[in-house]
Amino acid sequence: MKRGLALALAAFFLALGPSVQAQQTPASQSRPQYHGDYFPNIVLHDQDGRAVRFYDDVIRGKVVAINFVYTTCTTLCPLDTAQLRRLQQLLGDRLGRDIFMYSVSINGDSPEALRRYMRTYDVGPNWRFLTGSREDVTRLQRLLGLRIDDPNDLRNHNASIVLGNERTAQWIRRAAYENPQNLAELLTVFLQNSAPNTSRRSQSYAAAGEVTDNSRGAYLFRTRCQSCHTIGGGDRLGPDLAGVATARPPAWLARWIREPDIMIAERDPVATAMLPRYRNLPMPNLGLGEAEVAALIEHMRTQDQRRTAGPAHGH
Ligand code: HEC
Repeated sequence: MKRGLALALAAFFLALGPSVQAQQTPASQSRPQYHGDYFPNIVLHDQDGRAVRFYDDVIRGKVVAINFVYTTCTTLCPLDTAQLRRLQQLLGDRLGRDIFMYSVSINGDSPEALRRYMRTYDVGPNWRFLTGSREDVTRLQRLLGLRIDDPNDLRNHNASIVLGNERTAQWIRRAAYENPQNLAELLTVFLQNSAPNTSRRSQSYAAAGEVTDNSRGAYLFRTRCQSCHTIGGGDRLGPDLAGVATARPPAWLARWIREPDIMIAERDPVATAMLPRYRNLPMPNLGLGEAEVAALIEHMRTQDQRRTAGPAHGH
């Protein structure tokens, strides 16, 4: 438990890798001896209104995945939350045993709002939602190595997922677009080891990936859509998209993928009818450009053709 802070911080920045801006120099701000002095015991409240201390109750001695959301977010947090939900499914009963998941509100959401959000995203057990004052939460984000330019700019907030092992002081930051299988592998293999620089890959999670199609559309679908949608594999948080590229008028489809939030706000009749079937989870605006939307629609069409051509589509 009582490891040197210098070692802890070295491992911290090593694990974060070169992509992280060293916007803080915590080592020069304080020279305490224990991790608990770096991560303060800020008091947050969970979805049931229970008070928890950030260091002692949330992260101490644990392997954790933490993201930051707000419940009325219509841009990146829904994707983030959907990715964590896939992660939750991959982790199964390890979650709550040796791996813990938290989503922290950056907007001072009430416990009721958190519970509603959890229902919308069909959040299962052992994934806790936390809320606190904006000031405290911004401080935590910064301590976790997240770059926060303007805490009041909710729409463009930092949607990274932070994975860490408090005991070994390894912390990793991942984009919301990360494949949940990679996140699962980091949590179950990489972060379980005590040496910070092990790069051994797990067979189980790494090999579980789907056949790789490297087209732009396939890549975008995997990173932006797949946590909520399949094409022919059944509903996830959103509907199965099999046949949708043919069934919907092209202009409607392109606009929907580009700005679903605006179409929902305008009470587009198709969108309004779909919403209640998906627990009122609004499809997020993922900030895609026209070319990206076209590539996605092309990918959906190709997948439809492959499926209708049957499994042996080599003729
Ligand atoms: C956070 C979950 C989420 C993500 C991420 C997401 N969607 Fe959706 N999507 C939904 C939900 C939920 C609906 C159902 C409508 C609603 O409730 O807003 C939907 C509806 C749709 C529909 C309309 C289906 C129909 O029957 O007309 C299309 C098309 C679609 N999504 C495409 C995409 C594409 C392409 C992406 C990736 C760029 C994407 N979605 C990302 C949740 C998501």
